Amino acid sequence: MLIHSAGQCLTLAGGPQRGSSLGNLKIIQDAAVLISDGRIRAAGNSNELRAAHPNEDLLDAQGRVLMPGFVDAHSHPIWAGDRAAEFEQRLQGKTYLEILEAGGGILSTVKATRAASMEELLEQTRPRLRRMFAHGSTTIEAKSGYGLNLETELRLLEALLLLNAEGPWELAITFLGAHAIPAEFKGRAGDYTNELCKNWLPELKHWWFSHAGERALPFVDVFCETGAFDLAQSRQILESAKELDFPLKVHAEEFDQLGGTALAIELGAVSADHLVSVSPEDIAALGDSETVAVALPATPFGLAESKYMPAREILAANGLLAVASDLNPGTAWCENIQFSLALACRNLGLTPAEAIGAATINGAAAIGRATEIGSIEVGKQADLLILDVADYRHLGYRFGTNLVHTVIKKGVPTLAKEEL
Ligand code: NIG
Ligand code: FE
Repeated sequence: MLIHSAGQCLTLAGGPQRGSSLGNLKIIQDAAVLISDGRIRAAGNSNELRAAHPNEDLLDAQGRVLMPGFVDAHSHPIWAGDRAAEFEQRLQGKTYLEILEAGGGILSTVKATRAASMEELLEQTRPRLRRMFAHGSTTIEAKSGYGLNLETELRLLEALLLLNAEGPWELAITFLGAHAIPAEFKGRAGDYTNELCKNWLPELKHWWFSHAGERALPFVDVFCETGAFDLAQSRQILESAKELDFPLKVHAEEFDQLGGTALAIELGAVSADHLVSVSPEDIAALGDSETVAVALPATPFGLAESKYMPAREILAANGLLAVASDLNPGTAWCENIQFSLALACRNLGLTPAEAIGAATINGAAAIGRATEIGSIEVGKQADLLILDVADYRHLGYRFGTNLVHTVIKKGVPTLAKEEL
C-alpha cells in the first residue's frame, strides 16, 4: 500500500530525542509512505514514490498530516467499577492520599476488580482500549495492579494477554503488584513486600513462560510513595525483580520526594514516571541516564492540582522525556492521549513538536521499543496516523476533539470514527 499526498509527514527519524533535540520532527512535505507486510518500506516525495510504485493500492491522505502512532508509555486500563463518588469527595476537600489511607482510592478499585469475572474484566477494558486506539494510541503500555493478590493479578495479566492478541492495538504489559498495600496486609507493608519478592515474582516468571509464549518478560513497576511503598521496600521489590531479569519501571515522586527517581536510575529502570516533586540532583542524574522521565500531565489535571513535572528543567539537563496518559479510574480517566499533549503544551511548557516527539519516539523508548516503533523509518513497523488537519501544530493547540482521521496498525488502516 502507498499512502500518498500527505501535506506534512512527521517522520521523527533518528532515534530517541534527548534534551534540546526533542521536537525535531524531520518533516517531509508532500510525502508518501510505502508499506508492505506491516512494515515501512520507503518514505519520501509523493510524486516520486507514486511513479516508482505504480501498482500499489493507494490511500490518499488528501494533504493531511501523516505521523507515527502514539506510543502511550503509561496506563492502567484494566479495572472494574468507577470512582465517581471519590471524585466528588475530592472536590469537597479530601486529598488523594487521605482517601487511600482510609481504604478508598486504589483499594476501592481493588475490591471491585477482585469481584469481577474474566468476562466482566474483558468487557469493561476492551472499549477503553478501543477508544485509546481511535484517538491514535497504536501501542499502549498496560499495567496490572488492581488485584493485589496473586490470583487476581494473574487474572489481570491473562486478560491483558488476551486483549493484546485481539488487537488491533499492541500492549506492553507491566506487573504492578506493588501498587498499594492491600487491606489484608494493612499495617504490614513489610510482610506484603516480602510476599511479593519471595513468592509472587518467581511464580510470575514461571506463569509468564507458560502463558505468554515467546513474549519477553513484562515490566515490574512499584508505586514508591507515602502510603504505598517506601524507598527501602521499593528497592527490595525492584532488586528482586531485576535478579529475575524483569525490566523495571517506577512510579516516583508523584506527591512526596522519596527517592524513587534516583533508585530507578541506579537500577537501570527503563522509565521513571510522574516526577512532579523530583529534586535538582535527580534532574541532573536523568541527563546522564537512559531512564526516560515519563510525564503524566493528565494526573495533576485530573486531581485539580497545580504542580506538574518540571519538564523544561529535565530537558535542560539533557534528559529523555516522554508524555503518556496514565489512564486510570482514580486520577485520570482520559482515553485521549491528545489531551495529554494539550496539557503538556500548557503545563509542562512544551511546544506541539516537543509534545509529539515525547508521545511517539520517546514513548517507544520508555517501553524499550524505540527500534521498532515511534517513527516513520524504513524497516519499522507501519504504525501510523493520518490526522484530520493539515498543520501538525493543531495537536496541542486544540483539545477535546479527536484529530485522528485514520489509524494504521501494522499496515492495516482503520477509520477512527468507526471505532468510537
Ligand atoms: O499513576 N499513582 C498510582 N497509580 C495511578 C493512580 C491509580 C489510582 O488512583 O487508581 C497513577 O496516578
Ligand atoms: Fe500510574
